[in-house]
Amino acid sequence: MGNKTLIITGANGNVGSYLASRFLQRGRKLILIVHKNKQRIEDLEATNPQTVRVLAADLSKLERVKQKFDQIIEQTGWQPTELIHTSTARSHDFQALVNTDEHLWQRILMVNIMGTYNILKTVLPYFKQKKYGRIVLFGSNVSRIGLPRGTAYSASKAAISNLCRSVAVEEATDKIIINTISPGPIKIDESHFSESYRKFREEYYKEKLKEIPLKRCATFEDIFGLCRFLISEENSYITGEEFFVTGGKL
Ligand SMILES: NC(=O)c1ccc[n+]([C@@H]2O[C@H](COP(=O)([O-])OP(=O)(O)OC[C@H]3O[C@@H](n4cnc5c(N)ncnc54)[C@H](OP(=O)(O)O)[C@@H]3O)[C@@H](O)[C@H]2O)c1
Repeated sequence: MGNKTLIITGANGNVGSYLASRFLQRGRKLILIVHKNKQRIEDLEATNPQTVRVLAADLSKLERVKQKFDQIIEQTGWQPTELIHTSTARSHDFQALVNTDEHLWQRILMVNIMGTYNILKTVLPYFKQKKYGRIVLFGSNVSRIGLPRGTAYSASKAAISNLCRSVAVEEATDKIIINTISPGPIKIDESHFSESYRKFREEYYKEKLKEIPLKRCATFEDIFGLCRFLISEENSYITGEEFFVTGGKL
């Protein structure tokens, strides 16, 4: 199918921004969904006005996302064919569930679970109309191992991979293929995190690296390689699966 348009959520994030530049090199039109920040993709937007559109929205609000998305499609005439959904909220309070603030807990579920529902509600009608679609959701290895002091995040990631299985069956007749990539630790730029969050990650990953058979974190290119296959036409039979990118760690 020619004239492919890939939608990437969390497009200003570590993974989202990397995937945006890699898929642009491969000739995709891109709709990049960002939230509050877009500094990582500003250059990309400025230098590719014919092939890149940036949509700023809070994914937990369905109507706003849908309205802005439909508007871009109407203006450009682009045909959405693929979605990579990386956006996420994280558990920044590092508290055990018993001490977690209920509003923070709800907010993480709202962004991660309702945000997934909202982006699927927005793009699936386009995919269904054309009877073609490739979707990659982002979970995490914590969906199977849990995350002490990050229960809302880990529960939401498990929900995403479960939702993926159900949607795969629901949409199979329309030839829409959906999978979840669940990475372990990815090597990212941590400079923008708060000192307490950096410390939390340092402690967490020091221990985690000992348990990874390949003794390193995943790279963005590791993630890109799997994404590229999963959203390609070559992948016409693998759907509803959760792929753990963890260097051999269970
Ligand atoms: N990095 C890792 O080590 C790792 C490990 C396992 C799994 N993962 C998963 O891989 C995916 C990508 O990770 P990452 O490191 O690239 O994440 P990231 O850098 O934190 O990016 C997440 C993005 O989500 C956006 N976002 C947050 N709240 C939003 C909302 N309400 N509406 C719309 N967008 C919102 C953020 O935008 P703003 O900054 O503007 O709010 C941010 O750009 C995530 O799903 C993550 O759970 C990552």
